[in-house]
Amino acid sequence: MARKLIIAANWKMNKGPAETADFIAAFLPSVQALAGECDIVIAPPFVSIPSASALLADSPVALSAQNASEQEKGAFTGEVSTAMLKETGVQHVILGHSERRSIYGEGDQLINAKVKKCLAADLHPIFCLGETLEERESGKLQEVLRRQVSGGLAGLSNDDMSTVVLAYEPVWAIGTGVTATPEQAQEAHAFVRTLVGEQFGMEVAEATRIQYGGSVKPSNSADLMAREDIDGALVGGASLEAESFRDLIANAVA
Ligand code: PGA
Repeated sequence: MARKLIIAANWKMNKGPAETADFIAAFLPSVQALAGECDIVIAPPFVSIPSASALLADSPVALSAQNASEQEKGAFTGEVSTAMLKETGVQHVILGHSERRSIYGEGDQLINAKVKKCLAADLHPIFCLGETLEERESGKLQEVLRRQVSGGLAGLSNDDMSTVVLAYEPVWAIGTGVTATPEQAQEAHAFVRTLVGEQFGMEVAEATRIQYGGSVKPSNSADLMAREDIDGALVGGASLEAESFRDLIANAVA
């Protein structure tokens, strides 16, 4: 099945409103022609979302948040609700990123609650999963991915799954400059697709887009995207400069 590529910029804690505006001014004209060939998403920090939203309105580039609360509203200091994100024009939300899992202790159950909250608000989750080096080296790769998929996507319907994108990000490849080889990535993606199939049926699994993340750059995006089960990229470092992110996308769709 032909799945449209989806390439997303995860800026993490980089770029305030002014830098966000500068990036979009440089980036947007340069990707107009590429946007028909793949879905392009930018995920700035919360405070830069209104600036990005105004500049991306009526453009082919979609807007994502990097997190959302599983709560509706009220006394949750420091949190941002799905309704607030929706109001500011956000379409996607990155959930379960390994930095949220490891630094802020988010577990499968909480991530699952966030996924459901986003779906209820008509926001599209970009659901991240992936193993640490220790887990891979001790032969736990499949066990970890199985736990993350079954826990994080528990209770979702087949309909829900049509708006969920998965992002396989081996933790050892994030921000390290070490990319999984296209073969390693393809093998893990095929396995993740099997897991989605076990949970939702093969038709859903075949239609689900699975991004690869972890040191994707202009020089390796083509090779990775050429693999059968790799349907896009979640990009940190190489998405911070407009030219680099544009080149990464251009090479991916070429
Ligand atoms: P990286 O980050 O591209 O800098 O490795 C990817 C991510 O964490 O989503």
